[in-house]
Amino acid sequence: MKSEELLYTTMLRDELPAVRATMLEVQQRLPDPVAPALAAIINGGGKQLRPALALLSARMFDADVENAVPVAAAVEMLHTATLIHDDLIDNALMRRGKQTLNAQWSAAATVLAGDVAFAWAAELATRSQCLRLIKHFSETLAIICSGELNQMFTTRAQLPTEADYYRRIFSKTASLFALAAESGPLLMQRDEADVQRLRMFGKLVGEAFQIVDDVLDFMGDEVTLGKPVGGDLRQGIITLPVLYYFRRHPDDVRLHAVLARAEHVRGHNNYMRNESTIQALIADLRQSDAAEWAMQQAETHAAEASALLDIFPDTTYRQAMQEITAFAVQRQY
Ligand code: IPE
Ligand code: IPE
Ligand code: MG
Ligand code: MG
Repeated sequence: MKSEELLYTTMLRDELPAVRATMLEVQQRLPDPVAPALAAIINGGGKQLRPALALLSARMFDADVENAVPVAAAVEMLHTATLIHDDLIDNALMRRGKQTLNAQWSAAATVLAGDVAFAWAAELATRSQCLRLIKHFSETLAIICSGELNQMFTTRAQLPTEADYYRRIFSKTASLFALAAESGPLLMQRDEADVQRLRMFGKLVGEAFQIVDDVLDFMGDEVTLGKPVGGDLRQGIITLPVLYYFRRHPDDVRLHAVLARAEHVRGHNNYMRNESTIQALIADLRQSDAAEWAMQQAETHAAEASALLDIFPDTTYRQAMQEITAFAVQRQY
């Protein structure tokens, strides 16, 4: 299934372009070549799942579209900024089928371009005039960055636990889905119960989404994905399916090869160079039942997320949110 075939793209056919236009305003303030580069990323064919969730949540709670569009743009801009920095950190040269900024520019220039996107995201969040939302926005940004730092500085002498894994994916991915999903009740000053329910919904969708991303990292097709595969293993990051695989093969010596990545301190090499080890491991992972098992976990999270919305009236907004939830698991890219 393609994201363009989902309900949200037709339901939000005015709002999503408005979100994109709002995001594009920033480039007018930037020097060349940053302005066109940022515009190309914004126009680069992202699935827009997070702004769609923000807009649908706003609609579900009868929030004003005029307030919801900048919030959705803030969420997507925050996502864009994290991708710019993430690709630099991951040394990934392709995103959405195109060259990343770090493939073209120095690390310094890439960091600054990402910073501009973060700053603009914060400005967009303030347009909601909702202090509670701005507070949650700032907290989410802190959670994402702290998660990245934690990932870098954790000594990986042994396998992480599942709890470690879930903490990590909440930080890097699910926290932003939670923010997107709770924006409707936040904008409408609804009580904590509604905010918490939508937040939990977003968190579960985000977890399902990241588990699938981690499966696609070794099962996916690079062209369809528009980004490189195998990056997690190369960086020594043990994702849920890989964790399952190594639990079943505790004597696999390649585990130590994956874990033995140098620390993120100056002068150390952060990437695994032994490409043949990585490729052999990818081949074995593909043969194993690790992907199937992880996909079941993703499905459980998605089903739990979907059920949380069942108490609300069965509107097309609710249906579209539940469809995005299912897509988070079924997607191939
Ligand atoms: C990629 O997110 C980053 C992850 C959290 C895995 P998306 O897959 O939503 O990226 P785009 O915006 O559609 O390109
Ligand atoms: C997403 O994790 C990290 C962010 C929240 C930016 P990944 O590193 O797995 O994302 P991809 O696979 O590069 O899109
Ligand atoms: Mg990455
Ligand atoms: Mg990934």
